[in-house]
Amino acid sequence: MKVQAMGLLGILRLVIIFGFMEIGKAQRKSFLISCGTNSSVTVDGRRWIGDTVPGNNVTFSASGIEASTGTFSGDPVYEPLYRTARIFTDSLNYTVQGTPGNYFLRLHFYPLVYMNYNANDSVFAVESNRLRLVSEFNVPGEILNKNSNLLRSGGNSSFTSLVKEYFFTIDANIIVIDFIPSKGSFGFVNAIEIIPVDDKLFNDSVRRVGGNGGSSSLNLDTRGVETMYRLNVGGSAVKPSQDLDFWRLWDVDSSYMVNPDAGSETRNRTNITYASPNNTFVAPLPIYETARILSNTEVLERRFNMSWKLEVDPDFDYLVRLHFCELRFDKPNQRIFRIYINNRTAAENFDIFVRAGGMNKAYHEDYFDEISSKSNTLWIQLGPDTTTGSAGTDALLNGLEVFKLSQNGNLAYVQRYSNIEGKKTSKSFLWIGIGAGIASIAILAALVMLIVWFCKRKNKDDDDDDAKKTASGWKPLFLHGSIANRTAKATGSTVYQNPNGTVRSGRRFTLAEIRAATNNFDERLGIGVGGFGKVYKGEIDDGTLAAIKRANPQSHQGLAEFETEIEMLSKLRHRHLVSLIGFCDEQNEMILVYEYMDNGTLRSHLFGSDLPPLSWKQRLEVCIGAARGLHYLHTGSERGIIHRDVKTTNILLDENFVAKMADFGLSKTGPSLEHTHVSTAVKGSFGYLDPEYFRRQQLTEKSDVYSFGVVLFEVVCARAVINPTLPKDQINLAEWAMHWQRQRSLESIIDPRIRGKYSQESLMKFGEIAEKCLADEGKSRPTMGEVLWHLEYVLQLQEAWLHTNADAGENSVSSNPDLGPNDVGECEVQDATN
Ligand SMILES: *[C@@H]1O[C@H](CO)[C@@H](O)[C@H](O)[C@H]1NC(C)=O
Repeated sequence: MKVQAMGLLGILRLVIIFGFMEIGKAQRKSFLISCGTNSSVTVDGRRWIGDTVPGNNVTFSASGIEASTGTFSGDPVYEPLYRTARIFTDSLNYTVQGTPGNYFLRLHFYPLVYMNYNANDSVFAVESNRLRLVSEFNVPGEILNKNSNLLRSGGNSSFTSLVKEYFFTIDANIIVIDFIPSKGSFGFVNAIEIIPVDDKLFNDSVRRVGGNGGSSSLNLDTRGVETMYRLNVGGSAVKPSQDLDFWRLWDVDSSYMVNPDAGSETRNRTNITYASPNNTFVAPLPIYETARILSNTEVLERRFNMSWKLEVDPDFDYLVRLHFCELRFDKPNQRIFRIYINNRTAAENFDIFVRAGGMNKAYHEDYFDEISSKSNTLWIQLGPDTTTGSAGTDALLNGLEVFKLSQNGNLAYVQRYSNIEGKKTSKSFLWIGIGAGIASIAILAALVMLIVWFCKRKNKDDDDDDAKKTASGWKPLFLHGSIANRTAKATGSTVYQNPNGTVRSGRRFTLAEIRAATNNFDERLGIGVGGFGKVYKGEIDDGTLAAIKRANPQSHQGLAEFETEIEMLSKLRHRHLVSLIGFCDEQNEMILVYEYMDNGTLRSHLFGSDLPPLSWKQRLEVCIGAARGLHYLHTGSERGIIHRDVKTTNILLDENFVAKMADFGLSKTGPSLEHTHVSTAVKGSFGYLDPEYFRRQQLTEKSDVYSFGVVLFEVVCARAVINPTLPKDQINLAEWAMHWQRQRSLESIIDPRIRGKYSQESLMKFGEIAEKCLADEGKSRPTMGEVLWHLEYVLQLQEAWLHTNADAGENSVSSNPDLGPNDVGECEVQDATN
């Protein structure tokens, strides 16, 4: 009896608690406001109420102008919300009834053109409950100029809209958001989101970076916060609709990494729980399911940090929140690392397992840092802690958030025109911002027109004189005749060949054309992903297949690479370089259109796919093609061009398995005569990187030669250049293959599928070339011209051998590694009957 009564009491108590929670929730409700409209829309699963819908509990002080845009080019998910806006030429405020406490405030901006109002000309300020959020704010300028505090709606899929997120405490019963246009200008807003935060999202006392264990007080009851970055490290974007606590957007991190290859992605979806049950709202579990770990801890002697470089506003305090979850090790001391924020140690001897209290435990830590008035970057670096002497020096990070703290009631930072006042200066800022954009587009367009003109003229010449066509062919615009001749001699022939005899010109596509070609960026047409962005297979107007590369709009590096690539490819025409058909730079998109390469990457034909293996002869021909392309890059212009990212995924194969070098985004013009190298930050891909380039950060053509040597070994062994699942001495292909090559027994690790199908002599010679390419010092390595010459000799050896061993014919490659050469005959018979 007694027990039963207790039970009842407990249930009663539960009911009461639930009841209170209900009431609490009801009082602290969210406001989702769609501005400039009397209708409501459902977007990302939530109902957004029009700001003039009667009874919506939203009031505003002046009516402003209700605007709607006809054309829309942002993220389609947000289209219903962003098609309308409220424009104001005088101050205007939105007021909602709330209760004291904490809130997230999000302001949504989609740059519009409505009647005489063009968002390019808008300049305004926003305040909320005595906190200044932005000053002299121009949405397109912000999108164009800043990499920071942009939380573009819908992850990285849209470049054209902007969400600003704030977190603050109010002590009154109303929330007021003031919009104030600059003198003579106007402002606009598309949507406002006010989300109450009842959970304790921040602790007041936060460890100070470089403060010897000291901490700083955030004072969030009087200070406001702006979210600058929120990244899901090593995973894909987590959309607001997947973060049901506060509808936050978690962006991908790769575009902020200094070298995305320094950290490899890892994931584990099983049994992750929060280290503290009170922290379930800090971040949703998908953030902890993916991570980055150091790529190469056991491979190279010199170890590296994973580094994220984030643009921030100078002269503010920042809160950096790092999310961790140990996904692999089930005991302590396996993974110990250091954390640096702006080159200072934030934590050392960091063992997630110990701090989170186990494996698969979601855990976070906060750090407080001040950014000086001279800096606008925040570096976050994780690297090995070599002082501990523990077994594992690998680092791991799952998520990253950066919050800016207000200073004297101000969160606004006016980047370029704080010392001048009024609309005139704002205008001039716009000219700098947008003008620079237009200027670079204009230069690009001029360049492309020049090329088109050149091509047309060339074509005309060719039409006039057919005989000349075969003789002259293509020349890069900036070539010097003497070098051209020298190159042509060195390679024997085809360097300036006109590809297929057709004329290609850099064409400027409209976004509509690109959308039509890719079925609106249909994921099913995706054929690849790189640091730059996604690649789609598309069909342009006349049915021509094309590879369409769309830049990740959030990558600033992307913009630089986009321009490098157009610049390089516009100058270069070669049978063994992938040709650029055109580009699209409409609406801040950065899209490149290339000739489509039917047979994809060389790598896909070596391993990791079901494709039939290439014969030894085919492999040699592919290597020769790639070597020709590289040789042309190195010598085809006065200063030469260094590719910087030679690897088997950047060697593409056309329908006839002709190899072409691709991806010039990282290319650099070579050293001038008086210098022997180009100093530059290390870029490229692990496993292929020239150790000398690592050590000295000095780039020469010989770095490409090194990478090409790794490609040669990869072609023989048909395995990944870095394979962490193998025993330690085998992880790095370059080391492993060199080990065997030095003993002249490369055949012990040859791809079993070509065993018995090659001339011993050709393999021996091939191994020697690869070995020379991997010489420690650049100056001991051969030039690409020499590599090419030797490879052609290797091909001759193989062809001669094939001639006398006719039964080991071209297509008789065993697709089953276990089959010996004697079984191959049967395979052939089967093929023939099909
Ligand atoms: C990692 O970054 C820190 C801070 O910038 C630096 O001091 C350290 O030398 C770096 N470590 C490695 C291995 O590059």
